[in-house]
Amino acid sequence: MENMKAVRIHKYGGPEVLIFEDAPRPEPGSAEVLIRVRAAGVNPVDWKIRAGYLKDIRPYTFPLILGWDVSGVVQATGPGASKFKIGDEVYSRPDSARNGAYAEYIAVKEFEVAFKPRSIDHVHAGAIPLACLTAWQAIFDTAGLRAGQKILIHAAAGGVGSFAVQLAKWKGAYVFGTASGRNQSLLRELGADEPIDYENTRFEDLVHDVDVVFDTIGGDTQERSWNVLKKGGFLVSLVAPPSAEEAAKNGVRQAFIFMTPNGAELTEIARIVDSGKLKPVVETVLPLPDARRAHELSQTGHTRGKIVLGVA
Ligand SMILES: NC(=O)c1ccc[n+]([C@@H]2O[C@H](COP(=O)([O-])OP(=O)(O)OC[C@H]3O[C@@H](n4cnc5c(N)ncnc54)[C@H](OP(=O)(O)O)[C@@H]3O)[C@@H](O)[C@H]2O)c1
Repeated sequence: MENMKAVRIHKYGGPEVLIFEDAPRPEPGSAEVLIRVRAAGVNPVDWKIRAGYLKDIRPYTFPLILGWDVSGVVQATGPGASKFKIGDEVYSRPDSARNGAYAEYIAVKEFEVAFKPRSIDHVHAGAIPLACLTAWQAIFDTAGLRAGQKILIHAAAGGVGSFAVQLAKWKGAYVFGTASGRNQSLLRELGADEPIDYENTRFEDLVHDVDVVFDTIGGDTQERSWNVLKKGGFLVSLVAPPSAEEAAKNGVRQAFIFMTPNGAELTEIARIVDSGKLKPVVETVLPLPDARRAHELSQTGHTRGKIVLGVA
């Protein structure tokens, strides 16, 4: 069996458990492609899994390769794989029950893969899949956001939020977004109609009667969000199940979602990127062996856009 370089963990713990080392190179299975990784996006779920926060709901065996965002080149195809050929430039949010993309190679099911946007490089494409699919599935597939509606997006400068703002504008919605003072101009560049500095303004003083609240923060932020929705509105959260009782009391709907891999939606997203209407914000690019630093930065909770690991 051939080896490759990868960043693996052998136990749960702090950033120091991320080890850059040799690992077996995967083989593409049935209806899978082997991708030569050029870039791996970093997401908060990576450090949450590394720290063991999700061990009760997602049992993993060690050693484990983290990272479920990839852009790269098809190196080989498995039996029955027919959609892609060797040399195709692709991107994917692979199945997080398996080894991830902090590595030179990853095997991925074809249905989780799409051609990457042609107009951007691998580093920018690798920033897209997990966060952008999450935004898409929350605001479109779940909350049904339509043109002319109003949406409040919390953490609008973060990985998911920065895509959500642009997607909502692409759809023709009116967008309120929260971020700290240092990110107000970024929100405007992304297209937010009313950026809100959460350090100096209570969003509920400015926002009323929105159709959708996209909650990426939870806690007090989620609690205070019920009052800004109009009757029949929708609160969709990524981080904490909203109370069904509160929803009924306010005459609104609610959902807590986990994003799922989806190559077809990534194809649509690539089309929007190539039309110039959607652009990943990449704050930091680090080489693969610096995954530890990437986790330290992500854990601050103040990433602007995305952090990406480039794989030489
Ligand atoms: N359920 C799912 O399927 C799913 C999928 C993806 C993500 N998630 C979760 O969703 C959350 C967001 O993910 P992400 O990738 O967007 O995280 P991220 O990129 O780390 O988010 C960082 C952003 O949060 C902002 N922020 C921090 N505190 C804030 C506050 N009180 N109000 C408004 N903004 C605030 C920061 O803005 P400032 O620096 O300006 O403060 C920063 O831009 C994470 O907990 C992640 O694990 C869940």
